[in-house]
Amino acid sequence: MPSDRYAVMGNPIAHSKSPLIHRLFAEQTGQDMVYEAILVPTDGFARAVRDFRAGGGKGLNVTVPFKQEAWRLATRRSGRAERAGAVNTLLPEDDGGLYGDNTDGVGLVRDLTVNQGMELEGRRILLIGAGGAARGVLEPLLTQSPAQLVIANRTVPRALELAQAFHDLGPVHGCGFPDLAGRRFDVVINATAAGLEGRVPDLPAGVISGDSSCYDMMYGSEPTAFVRYARAQGARRALDGLGMLVEQAAESFFIWRGVRPDTAPVMERLRNQG
Ligand code: ATR
Repeated sequence: MPSDRYAVMGNPIAHSKSPLIHRLFAEQTGQDMVYEAILVPTDGFARAVRDFRAGGGKGLNVTVPFKQEAWRLATRRSGRAERAGAVNTLLPEDDGGLYGDNTDGVGLVRDLTVNQGMELEGRRILLIGAGGAARGVLEPLLTQSPAQLVIANRTVPRALELAQAFHDLGPVHGCGFPDLAGRRFDVVINATAAGLEGRVPDLPAGVISGDSSCYDMMYGSEPTAFVRYARAQGARRALDGLGMLVEQAAESFFIWRGVRPDTAPVMERLRNQG
């Protein structure tokens, strides 16, 4: 029997760490599988999924820019994917259906709570950004019962709309960056794309202080712009998103294989190789 086939689809995809992460998970848990990275043309996602499935593919990860399209293609979705409006994990079903889940938010929450030992219940959380990345993590964050969750965005109406879409799940409010002046948060999460240009969101001075644990959903071989900014503000902790990446992968692996890999050695390996 050939090994079961899995893949991540995206564009670009060359620098994806997912093939390495899943290879390490498979070795560790003794699963007979292969996992490749597939570059998909921006107008070719549905066809690529169809072809992969026709070739016997057992499961897919989906990354930028196809997560919303994957949501539309899925014939059945988890509750968290439904809310996120985006799917990063696809599982072909025997009846011809396609199950879609989103493991990004649970990956973030697991990294914060399990790996970093942070308590989120009763805490004041600031989520910066109101795009797809922010939307994808809101439900799992609110499930932790924070005292408040503030969504701050450069374009204020997007923050207000996002807060409105999740307000039934907990105390969530939207605002602009200037509205944060004088406010303090226990946990500050950067979900903006500012780091792609080496920039940081224009927060009022004092929002990040020695009380804040800061988390950048992006990661890189060097500390990200937000991590450097948070450190300069005296944040008690400033972490990048490598842990989230590995945890969301572990959750996908569990959905496909029913086995939960140990993430710690995989994170250490990725950190060491830069
Ligand atoms: P993603 O799927 O990565 O979230 P997106 O939906 O395009 O991508 O959203 C990008 C997010 O990063 C938005 O919140 C955007 O703010 P706007 O809604 O005001 O555009 C935010 N963003 C991007 N560059 C930024 C910058 N330089 N400063 C602050 N926010 C920025």
